[in-house]
Amino acid sequence: MMRLDKLLAARTGMTRSESRKAIAKGRVTVAGAVCKQADAQVDEAAALALDGAPLAGAYQKYVYIMLNKPAGVVSASRDKRDTTVADLVAAAYPRRQLFPAGRLDKTSTGFVLLTDDGALAHDLLAPAHHVEKVYLVTLDAPLTPEMCAGFAAGVTLADGQTLAPALAEPAGADPCLVRVTLRQGVYHQIKRMFGVFGAGVNALHRESIGGVALDGALAPGQYRELTQAELAALQNWR
Ligand code: URA
Repeated sequence: MMRLDKLLAARTGMTRSESRKAIAKGRVTVAGAVCKQADAQVDEAAALALDGAPLAGAYQKYVYIMLNKPAGVVSASRDKRDTTVADLVAAAYPRRQLFPAGRLDKTSTGFVLLTDDGALAHDLLAPAHHVEKVYLVTLDAPLTPEMCAGFAAGVTLADGQTLAPALAEPAGADPCLVRVTLRQGVYHQIKRMFGVFGAGVNALHRESIGGVALDGALAPGQYRELTQAELAALQNWR
């Protein structure tokens, strides 16, 4: 159950005060009956209408968005200079405080999960049981057996930090194209891991998170909400 003014605001994008005024004027019906009480407790799934027009979409406590991040956009909620991943979806979700659950570098592309569900984000990113993420990486040199073995053993970075074992494998005929699977989220991790072997990263694209693949129909900058099955996969990925 939830207050009617809050539910109306969530379903329409109106502010709470706009929705309170609409309710007071008798413009809102709940299951067909006019309700003029903003604080009436109504079911989240109740059929609401405004000026006789039914409002689509059940109330969602949280939103989960799959975004194909373009290069040049930063993985943050707000930034003074650069466009952020949250900016790309802000117009469609004006009342949501969305943040990226896991970051990609400004130059990297691919799957960024945007949500306002802090508990899920925490669950996916906690160091002890970090979600598995898969990247397609274009190197400036061919992948070598030493790199694959080094990743599998756990790379020690230039600063002395030893990382968890990871998988690096060829991703097609091009010897510079590599698929990397990580269960860790250290800053610039993949670039620094290949840097240990003297290789540079020309492009980095995140293909999947927790077994959920980026939808190939999403062009850079496009997004959609997760399906029920995708959300369930992330909630139960362990
Ligand atoms: N590792 C990196 O170096 N950059 C990313 O964007 C993601 C992982």
